[in-house]
Amino acid sequence: MRIIRAKDYEDMSRKAANVISAVMTRKPDCVLGLATGSSPVGTYENLVRRYEKGDLDFSQVTTVNLDEYKGLDRENPQSYYYFMREHLFSKVNIDPQRTFLPDGTEPDSEKACGGYNEILHRVGRADLQLLGIGHDGHIGFNEPADTFAKETHCVNLTDMTIEANARFFSSREEVPTQAYTMGIQTIMSAATVLMVASGADKAKILREAFSGPVTPQVPASILQFHPDFILVADEAALAEIDK
Ligand code: F6R
Repeated sequence: MRIIRAKDYEDMSRKAANVISAVMTRKPDCVLGLATGSSPVGTYENLVRRYEKGDLDFSQVTTVNLDEYKGLDRENPQSYYYFMREHLFSKVNIDPQRTFLPDGTEPDSEKACGGYNEILHRVGRADLQLLGIGHDGHIGFNEPADTFAKETHCVNLTDMTIEANARFFSSREEVPTQAYTMGIQTIMSAATVLMVASGADKAKILREAFSGPVTPQVPASILQFHPDFILVADEAALAEIDK
Protein backbone atom coordinates (compact mmCIF):
# COMPACT_ATOMS: atom_id res chain seq x y z
CA MET A 1 0.00 0.00 0.00
CA ARG A 2 1.34 3.39 -0.99
CA ILE A 3 0.09 6.64 0.51
CA ILE A 4 0.39 9.85 -1.47
CA ARG A 5 -0.10 12.79 0.88
CA ALA A 6 -1.93 15.85 -0.35
CA LYS A 7 -2.40 19.25 1.25
CA ASP A 8 -6.08 19.60 0.46
CA TYR A 9 -8.83 18.51 -1.94
CA GLU A 10 -7.30 20.39 -4.89
CA ASP A 11 -3.90 18.86 -4.33
CA MET A 12 -5.42 15.40 -3.89
CA SER A 13 -7.32 15.77 -7.16
CA ARG A 14 -4.22 16.84 -9.07
CA LYS A 15 -2.16 14.00 -7.67
CA ALA A 16 -4.84 11.41 -8.42
CA ALA A 17 -5.11 12.77 -11.97
CA ASN A 18 -1.34 12.36 -12.31
CA VAL A 19 -1.63 8.65 -11.54
CA ILE A 20 -4.49 8.16 -14.02
CA SER A 21 -2.74 10.22 -16.72
CA ALA A 22 0.35 8.05 -16.39
CA VAL A 23 -1.70 4.90 -17.02
CA MET A 24 -3.45 6.51 -20.04
CA THR A 25 -0.19 7.68 -21.53
CA ARG A 26 1.47 4.31 -21.10
CA LYS A 27 -1.55 2.44 -22.46
CA PRO A 28 -3.87 4.55 -24.68
CA ASP A 29 -6.41 1.68 -24.92
CA CYS A 30 -6.53 1.16 -21.16
CA VAL A 31 -9.57 0.09 -19.15
CA LEU A 32 -10.41 2.53 -16.36
CA GLY A 33 -12.74 1.57 -13.53
CA LEU A 34 -14.51 4.75 -12.40
CA ALA A 35 -16.36 5.99 -9.34
CA THR A 36 -18.90 8.71 -8.62
CA GLY A 37 -19.49 10.80 -5.47
CA SER A 38 -17.82 14.01 -4.30
CA SER A 39 -14.32 12.61 -3.87
CA PRO A 40 -13.43 12.09 -7.57
CA VAL A 41 -15.09 15.24 -8.98
CA GLY A 42 -11.86 17.27 -8.79
CA THR A 43 -9.91 14.37 -10.31
CA TYR A 44 -12.26 14.39 -13.31
CA GLU A 45 -11.90 18.19 -13.60
CA ASN A 46 -8.13 17.78 -13.79
CA LEU A 47 -8.42 15.05 -16.43
CA VAL A 48 -10.77 17.24 -18.50
CA ARG A 49 -8.31 20.17 -18.30
CA ARG A 50 -5.47 17.95 -19.48
CA TYR A 51 -7.63 16.68 -22.35
CA GLU A 52 -8.47 20.29 -23.33
CA LYS A 53 -4.76 21.15 -23.37
CA GLY A 54 -4.14 18.22 -25.71
CA ASP A 55 -2.21 16.21 -23.12
CA LEU A 56 -4.68 13.34 -22.79
CA ASP A 57 -6.58 11.29 -25.35
CA PHE A 58 -9.64 9.24 -24.39
CA SER A 59 -10.45 7.97 -27.89
CA GLN A 60 -9.33 4.40 -27.19
CA VAL A 61 -10.14 4.27 -23.48
CA THR A 62 -12.83 1.94 -22.10
CA THR A 63 -14.52 2.74 -18.79
CA VAL A 64 -16.45 0.54 -16.38
CA ASN A 65 -18.18 2.19 -13.45
CA LEU A 66 -18.51 0.69 -10.03
CA ASP A 67 -22.20 1.07 -9.46
CA GLU A 68 -25.61 2.45 -10.31
CA TYR A 69 -28.81 2.99 -8.34
CA LYS A 70 -31.49 0.43 -9.05
CA GLY A 71 -34.55 2.16 -10.48
CA LEU A 72 -32.95 5.31 -11.90
CA ASP A 73 -32.67 5.81 -15.63
CA ARG A 74 -29.84 7.63 -17.40
CA GLU A 75 -31.74 10.89 -17.70
CA ASN A 76 -32.34 11.08 -13.95
CA PRO A 77 -29.92 13.75 -12.63
CA GLN A 78 -29.20 11.54 -9.59
CA SER A 79 -28.20 8.52 -11.67
CA TYR A 80 -24.54 7.69 -11.80
CA TYR A 81 -24.66 7.61 -15.58
CA TYR A 82 -25.84 11.24 -15.54
CA PHE A 83 -23.03 12.11 -13.12
CA MET A 84 -20.42 10.53 -15.37
CA ARG A 85 -21.77 12.31 -18.44
CA GLU A 86 -21.77 15.64 -16.60
CA HIS A 87 -18.32 15.34 -15.09
CA LEU A 88 -16.39 13.43 -17.74
CA PHE A 89 -17.94 11.67 -20.71
CA SER A 90 -19.48 14.76 -22.38
CA LYS A 91 -16.26 16.75 -21.89
CA VAL A 92 -13.67 14.46 -23.46
CA ASN A 93 -13.33 12.49 -26.69
CA ILE A 94 -14.39 9.16 -25.21
CA ASP A 95 -16.45 6.83 -27.40
CA PRO A 96 -19.84 6.48 -25.60
CA GLN A 97 -19.95 2.87 -26.82
CA ARG A 98 -16.99 2.16 -24.58
CA THR A 99 -18.49 3.56 -21.36
CA PHE A 100 -20.23 1.00 -19.17
CA LEU A 101 -22.32 1.14 -15.98
CA PRO A 102 -24.78 -1.36 -14.52
CA ASP A 103 -28.25 -0.90 -16.02
CA GLY A 104 -30.29 0.79 -13.28
CA THR A 105 -33.47 0.46 -15.32
CA GLU A 106 -33.40 -3.36 -15.29
CA PRO A 107 -35.78 -4.39 -12.48
CA ASP A 108 -34.63 -8.01 -12.56
CA SER A 109 -31.52 -7.93 -10.37
CA GLU A 110 -30.18 -11.24 -11.63
CA LYS A 111 -30.43 -10.07 -15.21
CA ALA A 112 -28.88 -6.67 -14.45
CA CYS A 113 -25.95 -8.15 -12.53
CA GLY A 114 -25.39 -11.03 -14.97
CA GLY A 115 -25.42 -8.57 -17.86
CA TYR A 116 -22.86 -6.34 -16.19
CA ASN A 117 -20.62 -9.28 -15.29
CA GLU A 118 -20.65 -10.31 -18.95
CA ILE A 119 -19.50 -6.81 -19.93
CA LEU A 120 -16.77 -6.84 -17.27
CA HIS A 121 -15.51 -10.23 -18.44
CA ARG A 122 -15.51 -9.10 -22.06
CA VAL A 123 -13.70 -5.85 -21.33
CA GLY A 124 -11.11 -7.62 -19.16
CA ARG A 125 -9.52 -6.51 -15.93
CA ALA A 126 -9.17 -2.79 -15.31
CA ASP A 127 -5.73 -1.25 -15.65
CA LEU A 128 -6.76 1.13 -12.90
CA GLN A 129 -9.77 1.23 -10.60
CA LEU A 130 -10.62 4.58 -9.01
CA LEU A 131 -12.44 4.46 -5.66
CA GLY A 132 -13.86 6.68 -2.96
CA ILE A 133 -14.65 5.34 0.51
CA GLY A 134 -17.90 5.50 2.45
CA HIS A 135 -18.04 6.37 6.14
CA ASP A 136 -18.81 2.73 6.93
CA GLY A 137 -15.91 1.55 4.78
CA HIS A 138 -17.93 0.69 1.69
CA ILE A 139 -16.26 0.64 -1.71
CA GLY A 140 -18.57 0.74 -4.68
CA PHE A 141 -21.75 -0.14 -2.81
CA ASN A 142 -20.17 -3.10 -1.07
CA GLU A 143 -21.49 -2.45 2.40
CA PRO A 144 -20.24 -4.06 5.65
CA ALA A 145 -21.16 -7.75 5.54
CA ASP A 146 -20.16 -11.19 6.78
CA THR A 147 -18.32 -12.08 3.58
CA PHE A 148 -16.69 -10.26 0.68
CA ALA A 149 -19.01 -10.32 -2.37
CA LYS A 150 -17.30 -11.49 -5.54
CA GLU A 151 -19.00 -10.08 -8.62
CA THR A 152 -21.78 -7.65 -9.48
CA HIS A 153 -24.71 -7.93 -7.10
CA CYS A 154 -27.74 -6.02 -5.88
CA VAL A 155 -27.38 -4.44 -2.44
CA ASN A 156 -29.73 -2.93 0.09
CA LEU A 157 -28.13 0.38 1.03
CA THR A 158 -27.50 0.92 4.73
CA ASP A 159 -29.15 3.77 6.62
CA MET A 160 -25.74 5.45 6.91
CA THR A 161 -25.24 5.38 3.13
CA ILE A 162 -28.80 6.54 2.41
CA GLU A 163 -28.26 9.37 4.89
CA ALA A 164 -24.92 10.35 3.32
CA ASN A 165 -26.37 10.29 -0.20
CA ALA A 166 -29.52 12.21 0.74
CA ARG A 167 -27.57 15.45 0.19
CA PHE A 168 -27.84 14.90 -3.55
CA PHE A 169 -31.62 14.39 -3.49
CA SER A 170 -34.39 16.84 -2.56
CA SER A 171 -35.51 14.54 0.27
CA ARG A 172 -34.27 11.40 2.04
CA GLU A 173 -37.34 9.52 0.78
CA GLU A 174 -36.16 9.97 -2.79
CA VAL A 175 -32.87 8.16 -2.24
CA PRO A 176 -33.13 4.70 -3.82
CA THR A 177 -32.77 1.90 -1.28
CA GLN A 178 -31.01 -0.53 -3.62
CA ALA A 179 -28.11 -0.40 -6.02
CA TYR A 180 -26.18 -2.65 -8.37
CA THR A 181 -22.49 -2.77 -7.58
CA MET A 182 -19.34 -4.36 -8.85
CA GLY A 183 -18.09 -6.99 -6.39
CA ILE A 184 -14.95 -6.95 -4.29
CA GLN A 185 -13.28 -9.66 -6.36
CA THR A 186 -13.67 -7.57 -9.52
CA ILE A 187 -12.35 -4.45 -7.76
CA MET A 188 -9.38 -6.44 -6.45
CA SER A 189 -8.61 -7.78 -9.93
CA ALA A 190 -7.66 -4.30 -11.21
CA ALA A 191 -3.93 -3.95 -11.89
CA THR A 192 -3.83 -0.74 -9.83
CA VAL A 193 -6.39 0.50 -7.32
CA LEU A 194 -6.42 4.23 -6.63
CA MET A 195 -8.48 5.60 -3.75
CA VAL A 196 -9.16 9.30 -3.22
CA ALA A 197 -10.21 10.53 0.23
CA SER A 198 -10.50 14.02 1.59
CA GLY A 199 -11.71 15.75 4.73
CA ALA A 200 -11.75 15.12 8.47
CA ASP A 201 -14.95 13.08 8.23
CA LYS A 202 -12.98 10.33 6.44
CA ALA A 203 -10.17 10.16 9.03
CA LYS A 204 -11.73 7.54 11.29
CA ILE A 205 -12.71 5.14 8.51
CA LEU A 206 -9.27 5.41 6.86
CA ARG A 207 -7.69 4.39 10.16
CA GLU A 208 -10.09 1.45 10.55
CA ALA A 209 -9.65 0.34 6.95
CA PHE A 210 -5.89 0.62 6.65
CA SER A 211 -4.47 0.46 10.17
CA GLY A 212 -6.89 -2.21 11.40
CA PRO A 213 -7.62 -5.85 10.57
CA VAL A 214 -8.85 -7.00 7.15
CA THR A 215 -12.53 -7.79 7.57
CA PRO A 216 -15.69 -7.73 5.42
CA GLN A 217 -17.18 -5.56 8.18
CA VAL A 218 -14.90 -2.82 6.78
CA PRO A 219 -14.99 -3.71 3.06
CA ALA A 220 -12.17 -1.31 2.06
CA SER A 221 -9.78 -3.11 4.41
CA ILE A 222 -9.34 -5.85 1.76
CA LEU A 223 -7.27 -3.33 -0.21
CA GLN A 224 -4.44 -3.90 2.27
CA PHE A 225 -3.92 -7.16 0.34
CA HIS A 226 -3.85 -5.53 -3.09
CA PRO A 227 -0.39 -5.60 -4.71
CA ASP A 228 -0.66 -2.08 -6.13
CA PHE A 229 -2.98 -0.02 -3.96
CA ILE A 230 -2.45 3.74 -3.89
CA LEU A 231 -4.27 5.98 -1.41
CA VAL A 232 -4.22 9.67 -2.31
CA ALA A 233 -5.61 11.58 0.64
CA ASP A 234 -5.36 15.01 2.16
CA GLU A 235 -3.95 15.87 5.58
CA ALA A 236 -7.36 16.01 7.26
CA ALA A 237 -8.30 12.53 6.05
CA LEU A 238 -4.90 11.10 7.01
CA ALA A 239 -4.94 12.63 10.49
CA GLU A 240 -5.70 9.38 12.32
CA ILE A 241 -3.83 6.96 10.11
CA ASP A 242 -0.59 8.63 11.21
CA LYS A 243 -1.21 7.72 14.82
C1 F6R B 1 -19.49 5.86 -5.89
C2 F6R B 1 -19.18 4.84 -4.92
C3 F6R B 1 -19.15 5.09 -3.43
C4 F6R B 1 -18.45 6.39 -3.04
C5 F6R B 1 -18.48 6.59 -1.53
C6 F6R B 1 -17.84 7.88 -1.10
O1 F6R B 1 -19.46 5.32 -7.20
O2 F6R B 1 -18.97 3.77 -5.33
O3 F6R B 1 -18.50 4.01 -2.83
O4 F6R B 1 -17.13 6.36 -3.49
O5 F6R B 1 -19.82 6.56 -1.09
O6 F6R B 1 -18.60 8.94 -1.57
P1 F6R B 1 -18.08 10.46 -1.48
O7 F6R B 1 -16.90 10.55 -2.40
O8 F6R B 1 -19.23 11.28 -1.98
O9 F6R B 1 -17.73 10.70 -0.07
